[in-house]
Amino acid sequence: MNNEELLNIKDLKVYFPIRKGIFLQTVGYIKAVDGVDLQIKSGENLSVVGESGSGKTTLGKTIVGLIKPTGGKVAYNYNGKSFELFRSVPINVRQSVQMIFQDPFSSLNPRLKIVDTLKEALEIRKMFRTKREMIDYLGTLLEKVGLKREYLYRYPHEFSGGQRQRISIVRAISVKPKFIVLDEPTSSLDVSVQAQVINLLKELQRELNLTYFFITHNVAIAKYIGQKIAVMYLGKIVEINDSENLINSPFHPYTRLLLSAVVEPKIEHEKEIKVGGEPPSPVNVPSGCRFHTRCPFAMKICEEVEPDLVEYGGAFVACHLYSKERTKQIEKS
Ligand SMILES: Nc1ncnc2c1ncn2[C@@H]1O[C@H](COP(=O)(O)OP(=O)(O)OP(=O)(O)O)[C@@H](O)[C@H]1O
Ligand SMILES: [Mg+2]
Repeated sequence: MNNEELLNIKDLKVYFPIRKGIFLQTVGYIKAVDGVDLQIKSGENLSVVGESGSGKTTLGKTIVGLIKPTGGKVAYNYNGKSFELFRSVPINVRQSVQMIFQDPFSSLNPRLKIVDTLKEALEIRKMFRTKREMIDYLGTLLEKVGLKREYLYRYPHEFSGGQRQRISIVRAISVKPKFIVLDEPTSSLDVSVQAQVINLLKELQRELNLTYFFITHNVAIAKYIGQKIAVMYLGKIVEINDSENLINSPFHPYTRLLLSAVVEPKIEHEKEIKVGGEPPSPVNVPSGCRFHTRCPFAMKICEEVEPDLVEYGGAFVACHLYSKERTKQIEKS
């Protein structure tokens, strides 16, 4: 692993067993993440888009070590050493990877004053010699995200949604992370505060030299935050490219459909992406290309052979319209 490469994800699979009956026998699997390959470089933000249920949150949680993969590997590079985060790793390595959730309530304990929630993570690592230094540090961070120092002594219910999300951001950055997974961090907020929080995240990214893995339904936000955008469909990445190119010249038929569903991408419009028809269940993933049941360009080969993610026109695309198998088939006929 070279130092530029922060994460190397190889053939990652996360299957949730479906259990039935009084003995809770496993009768099948929900294939939430089903063979993801991804490399993330330090400082290169990646946005992930895809319909509801495509596995974005599961992928994000697995990357930060909250879920143990069923198969494959997530290698995380910390100062030139490789770690798998779901195992036990040194606390400074563990804390250098953080996750910010959609609902800020979920990361704040309603019974604790903000200061008590925030100090937990710092105390584990003994980052400060005195309590005074720690309080001063937290107060400065609150000010950095546009809140007042006094808020340290309030409870979560005393804040608005936007303020609570700012507090979750303080909680994440307080332990000096290198990499943050953000799971639709603004979609539960009022439209008027979404853009402010997005701008704050962008500023912090620059100032603190963070790398983001940014999950969103909003293509405009995806472009604003990420140098690259990955498109997920039923547990797999079907296309990945530089944001600008992905939006201006999408290759995969699914990406094209996704983008055509967004008339005019605006940061203020948190729009649920909807493509015609329902996605198939991740329990019974279609054979061959998993998108063939909804694809307007589906060919015979698409029902039989799963396309690999291959380089095409500067992008990586998993589609037979661009794959070598298709080229071979055309050459033969
Ligand atoms: N803990 C779990 N146990 C069982 N199934 C799960 C679990 N977590 C997620 N799933 C299933 O895995 C699939 C992917 O879910 P996931 O939450 O990762 O999708 P998502 O892309 O984040 O969707 P959304 O956009 O709605 O947040 C779904 O079918 C979901 O029901
Ligand atoms: Mg999700």
